[in-house]
Amino acid sequence: MSAQAGNIVYLGPPGWTREQAIIESQRLGFDEPLWLGRRGYGVGWVAQNRSTAPAKADARALWQSGNGVFLPGLVASGLTAQQANIVAAQRLVERILEGEGGADLLDEEPYATRLTPQFELLASTCDEGDDQEIETLEFDVLANGNIVAENLWVKLSWLSYDEDDASLRFRFSFGMVGYEDVAEDYQRQHYAAQLTEAVFPESYIISANPEVERILCATLAIKAPAYVERIVYFNAPNGGAQFHQDVERGHLGVIFAQVYGRTSWLAVPKPSLIEEIQRYLARPDAHAGLIEAGVKPRGLKTLLDKAANRDSLSAYLDDHQNDPLDILLNRVPVFAQQLIEARYGYMLEPGDVILLPQQGIGHCCWHSVFCMDDYIGEALSFAVRERP
Ligand SMILES: [Fe+2]
Repeated sequence: MSAQAGNIVYLGPPGWTREQAIIESQRLGFDEPLWLGRRGYGVGWVAQNRSTAPAKADARALWQSGNGVFLPGLVASGLTAQQANIVAAQRLVERILEGEGGADLLDEEPYATRLTPQFELLASTCDEGDDQEIETLEFDVLANGNIVAENLWVKLSWLSYDEDDASLRFRFSFGMVGYEDVAEDYQRQHYAAQLTEAVFPESYIISANPEVERILCATLAIKAPAYVERIVYFNAPNGGAQFHQDVERGHLGVIFAQVYGRTSWLAVPKPSLIEEIQRYLARPDAHAGLIEAGVKPRGLKTLLDKAANRDSLSAYLDDHQNDPLDILLNRVPVFAQQLIEARYGYMLEPGDVILLPQQGIGHCCWHSVFCMDDYIGEALSFAVRERP
């Protein structure tokens, strides 16, 4: 099996000062040290290592084993032509953060011209029961003045409940969330993809890129990719995503491309994540680390019981009621350090891509994301399926 090729080097713990991190970084021959953290959780100081894209056969092996496939610079050549659109997206997000409504903003140029005549904005709603939702915009799709598809939507949501984290996302899909089998309706998936391109034309750096298509065909062993269930992320300072997977019927995995700013990732195949959890729990300082991060003694016992057995730990990972494990994954810096030292840490700059295989609940790439800048970045996250 080819080794995963993380490009982050761990320098030192969160208690270090920047000066200490600089000394260590220089000693190891790296550039400036970078702070890795999210919403009050400090992982520590890291440095970016050089990396190259895996060879074709290695990329295929990484994908099959559920590893992230890091492809530095894969979409970099497309960024120059999209510069004006990237700046426009930044401005759009600024205005949303200032409290302006998405419906009014998309009624302005350049959006109005790009949306008409194909997409007709019908309504703007907000689900009061969903604290993370900002606004949902509903669209019909028209061809020659006739409705050809209904109930497409763009959902704007916060990425967390944290007041100090302005990260938000635009998700493009259709139908009833959680009820509809979206994979069954490729036509509407295709329209939702076109809607993404009307609002964020920088999507073309993935969707109109023959090199991306060629690599996906070889890596996923498919004839042609379709990019569906698209999300455009704006990760803000202090923000990012906790460990999760994105397994969904009807798609094979996710392609994520950094457009602006930088993000860091921990991306681990589920079987390896289980091994890493067990390895951490065998450390002499594990119990103290968990208690310090907020795990109660009873929770610690539950975690140790579940982790004694591979299958029960696997099921516990998929359980929504797993607070002690959730804390281990998302609040224990020594565990994150262990993953980085095992080369599961990646840092993406504009133009870099990571592929996240999502074959099934037992075999998929779990991942966690951190914003690396003191400004809001932009990234594209598209599910990949074989084009019907
Ligand atoms: Fe994800």
